[in-house]
Parts: sequence; C-alpha cells; structure tokens
Amino acid sequence: MACLRAISRTLAQQHSRCLAAGSLDVAAEQTLVAAGSRISAWWRPSGVRAFSVAPQDSGESISVTFKDEKDGTEQTVRVAIGKSLLEAAHENEIELEGACEGSLACSTCHVIVEDQDYYDKLPEPDDDENDMLDLAFGLTDTSRLGCQVVASKELDGLVVRIPGATRNMAVDGFRPKPH
Ligand code: FES
Repeated sequence: MACLRAISRTLAQQHSRCLAAGSLDVAAEQTLVAAGSRISAWWRPSGVRAFSVAPQDSGESISVTFKDEKDGTEQTVRVAIGKSLLEAAHENEIELEGACEGSLACSTCHVIVEDQDYYDKLPEPDDDENDMLDLAFGLTDTSRLGCQVVASKELDGLVVRIPGATRNMAVDGFRPKPH
C-alpha cells in the first residue's frame, strides 16, 4: 500500500510539474489520468481514510452548514455523529466533489471552516491530509478535507465553505466546479 501511495503521489507531482511547465501533451495527459484513476479506484490506505472506516453512527446528530461559493447557496443539514462531511454532503445532494471517495488521493473535497474556534476543535490533519491540502485550490489557514472531518458533538453548529473551484492534480489538474 505504501508503494501505491508513493506511485499516486509521484503521478500527482509529475502532472503538476507538467501542467506548470505547459509541457503536458494529450497522450501523456491520458496516460496520467488513466493511471491515477486506476490507483484511486482500488487504493485504500490504512487508518481513518475512506468512508467505511468512520466511527459508527451513535444515532445522534449535529447541525452543519455548507456554503457554496460557486452559487452563493447555503444549506444546513443534520449530520450523524461519526459521519464525514463528504458523506453528509453527498447524502444531502450538496456539491462537494470527493473524486477519490475519501482515499486521500485528491483535494476535491476541500472545505474551509469559517470559524477559527471550530477549526481548533478538529483533530490535527495528518501528513497525508496536509500533502493533499497543499494541492487544493484556494487553500486557507482553516482549510480541511471534507472526507477527513468527522462529525462529533463538539462540532454542532459547524459552518464550512465549499470553494468555487477544485484542483485534482492526481486526475485532472485545475477545473472550475460544475454548474
Ligand atoms: S475525497 Fe479525495 S481526499 Fe477527500
């Protein structure tokens, strides 16, 4: 698994460098996209990563507000304790992308915590999350990956913003969010 993670990172870095240099031709782009997609499809690192390893739902829930910077919409939903913000967004048809489905192989689930006090309540992001956050569009001091933020009682009332664009270097570089 560590090997796959390294390959995935290398692909993302190569893609990023080529895009920056303007030297990525169509064939190379297709090769990188295909390889990145295959790895993302079946790679699941250990620890709290993919949806399925989130703590069990205890039956309680908290209030979380998602503000979409793309269209200015705002939606407050109930999120069961133990669920990630990415899961909650998808259950409520909120446009938070999540291209790698919580495998920490993209930054398309980037969210920005509005209130520093709430941000401080979150467990520190680990190195893998920080690596992906470094690739996120519009990174801020209170940025997190939505797939790694898990609902807990103390987060009741959390407000997060969804940036108006995403950047998924492992798959397709920068792109505006779909309408
Ligand atoms: S969905 Fe890819 S890192 Fe969160």
